[in-house]
Amino acid sequence: MKKVYFETYGCQMNKYDSELVAGILKSEGYEQTAKADDADLILLNTCSVRENAETRVFGRISALGSLKKQHSGLKIGVLGCMAVRLKNEIIKKKPFVDFVIGPDNYRALPELLVKINDKVKEHFELSGFDSFETYGELFPAHSAGRSAWVAIMRGCNNFCSYCIVPYVRGRERSRSVTDILNEVKKLAGQNYIEITLLGQNVNSYNFEQIDFADLISLVADVPGIKRVRFATSHPKDLSSKLIEAIADHPNICNNIHLPVQSGSDNILKLMNRNYNRSHYLKLVGSARKKIPNLGLSTDIIVGFPGETEEDFQETVTLIKQVEFDGSFIFKYSPREGTAAYRMKETLTEKEKVNRIQILNEIQNKITLKRNQKLIGKIETILVEGPSKKAKPNQYMGRTESNKIVVFNSVTQPEKELLAVKIVDVQGHTLFGELV
Ligand code: 5AD
Ligand code: SF4
Repeated sequence: MKKVYFETYGCQMNKYDSELVAGILKSEGYEQTAKADDADLILLNTCSVRENAETRVFGRISALGSLKKQHSGLKIGVLGCMAVRLKNEIIKKKPFVDFVIGPDNYRALPELLVKINDKVKEHFELSGFDSFETYGELFPAHSAGRSAWVAIMRGCNNFCSYCIVPYVRGRERSRSVTDILNEVKKLAGQNYIEITLLGQNVNSYNFEQIDFADLISLVADVPGIKRVRFATSHPKDLSSKLIEAIADHPNICNNIHLPVQSGSDNILKLMNRNYNRSHYLKLVGSARKKIPNLGLSTDIIVGFPGETEEDFQETVTLIKQVEFDGSFIFKYSPREGTAAYRMKETLTEKEKVNRIQILNEIQNKITLKRNQKLIGKIETILVEGPSKKAKPNQYMGRTESNKIVVFNSVTQPEKELLAVKIVDVQGHTLFGELV
């Protein structure tokens, strides 16, 4: 059997796509290996969202390329967003890369591999857009466990001024309800109990008059599915109907990732986000009122062109006011081709780093304070496996609101829903005891 090794960067959608490609290759007789030097085919599924992600991948391409010296039949392919954005540069600078293939072209991979093995050409590049491709009926090789990602839409139409995604993943299109439910039912039949519905902007899902709130309710009703999550939501599209659906279904998790990006109306406007601070705050208020113990997280960009100290302070006050459970804070990274790329950068690297540090410190305190409130409470967690620090007998799982809980167990626990009592908090991690 031929062996394929994957290295995946970026968002959950990319992780799903790697499973999708693994599924396509499985039908072609490939099995996955966790060791690059064992592989006949190496695939890097790449991210273009920030420059540092791309730089890292370039380094990895070189490192993995050196394996060709030991294995002459080894083929290397670059998948994902960089395959669209930097196809020419990759082939020019890394001539040992056999092919680049963009997110809308994965069905063509088996055919491409035949051509590569027949040496029809030195390098192949397939990176066009297909505004109908949803890989609807394909069943990915989902990673083992009880939790699975399911893509419900692809692409993005929002054109936030800093974001490369619409240029590398093309226009928004929704996968059919039937295809989504078939995948979820099949997963339930294979003992998966947690489903995360994925899309760049799930709230604009629309297929034959079925919107996202309808869809998530249908998924929650599939027998055997005990938890449903979703990512990512755009604040301009998060509907009260969706908030009701979360509140009404006990198995839709009380967890929303709602990227705010900035607390300043001026910056939100320059970012082309189509909502303002007051709309965001109202949305959070209404979600918190209707969904008990909501776990709320966000993304923030600091150092967007023109961000003044006053704008930055607006973000500081927003974080303090909302009290997110967690924030992912990024330095603005100019992306060629986006609208913001033409705006003059007004902050130095040092100023950006300083702003990130300030926000992280504030958020860490808030996270700690919110987590401390859970001490003494009983939470249900879905066990994922040994804890990251892997001390003997230490395991971890996630609460419904998406917080990590570490607990001790003498025997290896099943990947199941278990009740734990929260007894301690350190940083972002909760510590629990099995009850
Ligand atoms: N620079 C920095 N962060 C970015 N993001 C998207 N584009 C950029 C960029 N050019 C962040 C946003 C988004 C997250 C996935 O990545 O916060 O929500
Ligand atoms: Fe990266 Fe965005 Fe592409 Fe995901 S969609 S892989 S985060 S650029």
